[in-house]
Amino acid sequence: MIQFILDKKGEILIYFIWLCIIFLFIFIIFTTIQFVEYFYCIFIKKQVPLVASCKKLRRFTVNEIQKHYPDSKNIIELGSGFGGLTRYLARKTNKKVTGIENIAWYAFVSKILDIFCFKKNSTVHGDAFEYLEKTKEHFDIAIAYLGPQATQKIPEYKDKIDVFISLDFPVLNLKPTRTIDIGYGATIIGNKKYPHKLYIYKFKHK
Ligand SMILES: C[S@@+](CC[C@H](N)C(=O)[O-])C[C@H]1O[C@@H](n2cnc3c(N)ncnc32)[C@H](O)[C@@H]1O
Repeated sequence: MIQFILDKKGEILIYFIWLCIIFLFIFIIFTTIQFVEYFYCIFIKKQVPLVASCKKLRRFTVNEIQKHYPDSKNIIELGSGFGGLTRYLARKTNKKVTGIENIAWYAFVSKILDIFCFKKNSTVHGDAFEYLEKTKEHFDIAIAYLGPQATQKIPEYKDKIDVFISLDFPVLNLKPTRTIDIGYGATIIGNKKYPHKLYIYKFKHK
C-alpha cells in the first residue's frame, strides 16, 4: 500500500486544488446556464441580446430626468442586463432605482455589483412584464432599452408608470411627448438601424 505523507505545504496545496476544482465546477454550471438562457432568449423567445447602452445615451437619460422630472423618486429599469444603467442612474440622480432582468446570470452579476454602488438601487431577477403585472408599487419613471417588439407592450402598464423613457425604440402607435436626438450612433437589430434617440411618453398628465 502506498501512503502519502504530506507536510504542511502539501496540505495547503491539496486545499488549494480542491478550491480550484469547486470554483471551476461552479463556473461551468453558471456558464452553461448562461448559454442555454442566451440561446433560448435569442432563438426561441426572440429577445434582444445584451447590448449595454452607450455612455452618451445614459448621460442624456440622466439629463432628461434632472431637467424635467427632478421630483421623481421611484425609477424602474426594464431589462437591466448587468445593471450598468441602473447603477449609473442611482449614482447620478440619487433616486431609488430598481432594475429587472430576466437572464439569471446577468441578474446575479448585477446583484453583486450593486453591493459596491452604495445607493438606493437594486436588481430583481424576473420578467419585466410579469413584475409590472404583480407589483403594487407605482413608478414615476420607467426606462427601457428592450428592443422594438417588447417596447410596444409597455403602454399596457401605464396605470403603474407616470413617464416612460424608451432608449432607441419608439412605441409605434403612440406620439411621444418629446424625442431627444443623441446625434450619432444607432442600435442595429438584424439589418435594421435604430438611431440613438430617447422617446419620452408622459402617461400621466399632472
Ligand atoms: C439591450 S439590453 C440593455 C441592458 C441595460 N439596460 C443597459 O442599458 O445597459 C436588454 C436587456 O433586457 C433584458 N430583457 C429583455 N427582455 C426582458 C424581459 N421581458 N424582462 C426582463 N429583462 C428583459 C435582456 O436580457 C437584456 O439584458
